[in-house]
Amino acid sequence: MNPGKEQILNGERSAGFDVQACRKDFPILSSTVFGKPLAYLDNAATTQKPQSVIDTIHNYYTGINANVHRGVHYLSEQATCFYENARVKAQQFINAAEFREIIFVRGATEGINLVAQSFGRSNLRRGDEIIISTIEHHSNIVPWQMLAEQTGAVLKVIPINDDGELLLDEYEKMLGKRTKLVAVGHMSNALGTINPVKKMAEMAHQWNARVLVDGAQAVPHMPVDVRALDCDFYVFSGHKVFGPTGIGVLYGKAELLEAMPPYQGGGDMISWVTFGKTLYNTIPYKFEAGTPHIEGVIGLGAALDYVSAVGMNRIAAYEGELLAYGTRLLSAAPGVKIIGTARQKGGILSFTMEHAHPHDIATILDREGIAIRAGHHCAMPVMERFAVPATARASLAFYNTQEELDRLVAALGRVREIFR
Ligand code: ALA
Repeated sequence: MNPGKEQILNGERSAGFDVQACRKDFPILSSTVFGKPLAYLDNAATTQKPQSVIDTIHNYYTGINANVHRGVHYLSEQATCFYENARVKAQQFINAAEFREIIFVRGATEGINLVAQSFGRSNLRRGDEIIISTIEHHSNIVPWQMLAEQTGAVLKVIPINDDGELLLDEYEKMLGKRTKLVAVGHMSNALGTINPVKKMAEMAHQWNARVLVDGAQAVPHMPVDVRALDCDFYVFSGHKVFGPTGIGVLYGKAELLEAMPPYQGGGDMISWVTFGKTLYNTIPYKFEAGTPHIEGVIGLGAALDYVSAVGMNRIAAYEGELLAYGTRLLSAAPGVKIIGTARQKGGILSFTMEHAHPHDIATILDREGIAIRAGHHCAMPVMERFAVPATARASLAFYNTQEELDRLVAALGRVREIFR
């Protein structure tokens, strides 16, 4: 996903990718906003849904709806079958070894909180250390701060260089006997930096520390293989990978999940309940208390089928070309400064403009039918590091086009005229 030399390679790898055909699968992409064709460039916030996902949810409610794991009747068995099939789809999508290593949660945020409260509270003691990085999303900062308060553990933060890359030498120095957990994003939502998580996991494991990777921004854009990464936990959100909101996945190595206490109590997570003692269910059900987000799980399965059919390698290659194109355009645009210039980078174009606040930029672009996000992107420490109050951010998906980026840059020209 690198602009530059890789591009030629990417060009070959993305051959045969038909962006216009893909766009037809997403009904919302043919809509207009303020009379202009929608250019949806806010994919890091949430992605649009293909018709197959919309149909799957519709079909679930029109023909299958029942609770899972509970009924012997036909509909309940159908619902359970679709629900558990989606678990296998998620397992295969990230190449987990077993279906029971896939836990359905509300999203990446809940997955991280689950690990912090279940694994963290039972394994961390006063003075133990948790390592995160400067470029984490708040969801991979705050749960660890809460855990540190509860246990007396200490939070350490890997610094970055001016391109937004982690300083691995500093990371190496931070690792030690007291390191119990390293929690790091696979790809930064604010800068696009792709972190060397495989190497970081290898380094952490030398100290017997466990590694959680926040894959919310990576999973929609590149192939992810949790066994190749050898991370202990991996989380992602359904709505960022073209599936429904309110659903996500926590992957954990089976032996760790088995040893962890439940996160929430309730129905389905037990095998036996008396007032004296409760026995818990096996994994993954031990971590899925209450009626789950059934249509969300099944819809997520449909989304994973969709992107698998397009091909994750092809998606990564095409987005790499698009990022290189957008980077060239923005670099040449007067008054625009790109924030986040890592060598390994995904499809995020965060930028500031002289004289114009990011919110003004986003508002003017909106009137042109162009949707971007402006603000701190739930990564305030990144803004602090780059000494900016906020950035404007265009974030790409495989259904975006060069023409949309042309429109973005043309509209920035108008922003400049208004504010200079
Ligand atoms: N984390 C999401 C974003 O980056 C909401 O916009």
